[in-house]
Amino acid sequence: MFGKILSHSIEKNKVFFQFEEGQGRVEIITPWIINIFSPLKYDDHYSRAIEDLKIESCSFKVKAKECCIEIKTEALTVKVYEDFKVDFYDKQGRVLCEDFREERDPFIRRGNVSIAEEEGHNVETNNEKHKIEVIKKLFGDEKFYGLGDKTGHLNKRGYNYEMWNTDDPSPHVESYKALYKTIPFFITLRDEGVFGIFFDNTFKSYFDMGKENSAYYYFGADGGNLDYYFIGGKGIQDILMGYTNLTGKTPLPQIWSLGYQQSRWAYAPESRVREIAKNFREKDVPCDVIHLDIEYMDNFKVFTWHKERFPEEKKTLKDLKEQGFKIVTIIDPGVKKEKDYDIYETGLKNGYFATDKDGITYVNRVWPGDSVFPDFSQEETRNWWSENQKIMLDSGVAGIWNDMNEPASFNGALPDDVQFENEGRNTDHTEIHNVYGHLMSKATFEGIKKYSGKRPFVITRAAYAGTQKYSTVWTGDNQSFWEHLRMSIPMLLNLGISGISFCGTDVGGFSFDCTGELLSRWVQVGCFTPLFRNHSCIHTRDQEPWAFDEETLNINRKYIKLRYKLLPYLYDLMWKGESTGLPVMRPLVLHYEQDDRVHEINDEFLFGENILVAPILEQGKTYRAVYLPEGTWMDYWTKEVIEGAQLIAKEAPLDVCPIYVKAGSIIPNYPVQSYVGEKEIKELTLDIYPGEGNYVHYMDDGESFNYREGEYTLYEFSMEVKDEATEATEVAIDIRKTHEGFKGYESFKVLYNKTSNKTSNMTSVKEVYFKDKKVEFKENNNHIEFIVPAEEGRIIIKEK
Ligand code: GLC
Repeated sequence: MFGKILSHSIEKNKVFFQFEEGQGRVEIITPWIINIFSPLKYDDHYSRAIEDLKIESCSFKVKAKECCIEIKTEALTVKVYEDFKVDFYDKQGRVLCEDFREERDPFIRRGNVSIAEEEGHNVETNNEKHKIEVIKKLFGDEKFYGLGDKTGHLNKRGYNYEMWNTDDPSPHVESYKALYKTIPFFITLRDEGVFGIFFDNTFKSYFDMGKENSAYYYFGADGGNLDYYFIGGKGIQDILMGYTNLTGKTPLPQIWSLGYQQSRWAYAPESRVREIAKNFREKDVPCDVIHLDIEYMDNFKVFTWHKERFPEEKKTLKDLKEQGFKIVTIIDPGVKKEKDYDIYETGLKNGYFATDKDGITYVNRVWPGDSVFPDFSQEETRNWWSENQKIMLDSGVAGIWNDMNEPASFNGALPDDVQFENEGRNTDHTEIHNVYGHLMSKATFEGIKKYSGKRPFVITRAAYAGTQKYSTVWTGDNQSFWEHLRMSIPMLLNLGISGISFCGTDVGGFSFDCTGELLSRWVQVGCFTPLFRNHSCIHTRDQEPWAFDEETLNINRKYIKLRYKLLPYLYDLMWKGESTGLPVMRPLVLHYEQDDRVHEINDEFLFGENILVAPILEQGKTYRAVYLPEGTWMDYWTKEVIEGAQLIAKEAPLDVCPIYVKAGSIIPNYPVQSYVGEKEIKELTLDIYPGEGNYVHYMDDGESFNYREGEYTLYEFSMEVKDEATEATEVAIDIRKTHEGFKGYESFKVLYNKTSNKTSNMTSVKEVYFKDKKVEFKENNNHIEFIVPAEEGRIIIKEK
């Protein structure tokens, strides 16, 4: 309770409040982004997510009113009341977000808990009061998206969660409060408007989205500052842009990391890795990456190789590289406590490990047995960890997979009083736990960047807001259950909405035994997840594409090849995401928020703006209902034209994943390759879905940072349709090169899809022109095909 406002003062972009009990501050970051702060622990922000808080200088007015202090930017009005209650209004004066004025009032749980517990029920209890609590009024139609990797529905309304990075290998279910990641950011949507809240607090935090009482929702934490950002905007996309402007955007990765990846706990010895590699090439299944799990290490000691299993690791990796395989190795934080083990000794000598409260190096048990934990909260340790990456890079490793960094420990959780240096602000585990994996990924990213000069490929299991700047993530130890395939979609969509675009799930499921049918359906989803990795647990049945039967292998091949075809489209999405913050995998609500019917869609998603995927997620099912939002769509497989804003039924035998492309799309395709770089790509295929539309295609060397110095080329395509009643349809496609900093293509192969709908026959093409010259074309079943030079100019397609 802050009590009455005693005074307020303005300094630059901040309005300070002196309350009877404590201080508060409202900071204008931009006209749309307002920070609410009270120095309950540190005097100022102390953020691990926001590394460079950019303040946009903008004018604002402050007025003392009878009820409150009113702060007006050109976009928002913020009213601050006693008890540091804050309300936000849009420009029209409509309330967007209002603090709840009463006490929390949780619903009653009747009866005796212990009797239920006696039978083994996992009984829920109501949340206690937290040190920091912000309670907001819940409006009737309000929906919530975001909060990272949490289980449950896409819309988080009615759920409550905790942010405490947790490694729990038992089957992930809807009642899980916490998983591996802490992304304390959500977006709320209702008819009156949309906004986001980022609660930048690394202590254990709590989010109750209207579960305990339908009159309010709240967020709170056990420690730290009151420090949250209200992010306004015209739509969800603006909010995401605002949030990622604060916490950072997913950088463009090396293009091979968007290829197919095969993992298993664990491919060892080296002959097994070679066998896996050989199978991919022999069975004609594209693959770029093979992961080495913990068994490649000597006694699970990080930054070492097992002498018998990988006697000549450099040679092995070199041979595999020649076949187009990149090797990614797992690195856990736990360092084996062992005399004369270099990493342990160096860390110990320099005080790089976390200690107990008496300053003695803290020990817990992980894979290597007794292990110690690097204190990633201090820069010196991170620098040392960065340097260690060189050991792996020198062996020929192409990327690093950071695991167990919640941190996980087998001898009970790390006690709260484990000590961390925290860049000179000594603290304990309660503050560092949720950023431990984040800081480890940062060190890994920076090391790889420094020693390879290339865009680092890092995967992490634990994360905090902002981890997207350093690492891709996966959703941890799922199981080979249909339910986990279904659940992966809202999980990945909410990760995207939380700024983490480059994400994926263990395709096929990690624990338990997969089936051919489940893998076939899972690969149809994996094909569209930015991180596309099949991974499985030791002792489960083999899960490689060929491990089941011919049909499963064929389906895996079909969708992995589709992924390689779509690589330039995916790479374009990553490139665009680096400036917009928009994810690759998108809930429909991101593009169609005015359409209530998409707000709760959990089992369809957009792959970029142009492609809609409606996978089959149930055993034995060969059809489903698909909701197509407004606009005209084309079935990717049949080219049938379907009007949107309606629900359709789609037959989908085991080898068909329902996919729809929006009219007006120009989808760039590469030829299928066994791995990225197998073929020199001089010709880009343009898969055209007639309609009005624009598309920007980006190309560069696919691996270095030179693009940041302008070494890239941009092509812009725009398509127009003239459809005069008396004349036949004419489609014009203008090609422009809007930036030229990298060797471009020699030609474009145009696949112009002939379309049909239920009432008309397939369209047919009469003539094609490029720069007014007639071009020969080949006629195929459902498209025509022709080649034009990769130059600026206009293509005209005349239909009969
Ligand atoms: C953890 C990881 C899993 C990995 C295993 C062994 O369970 O989540 O992906 O295979 O550890 O390293």
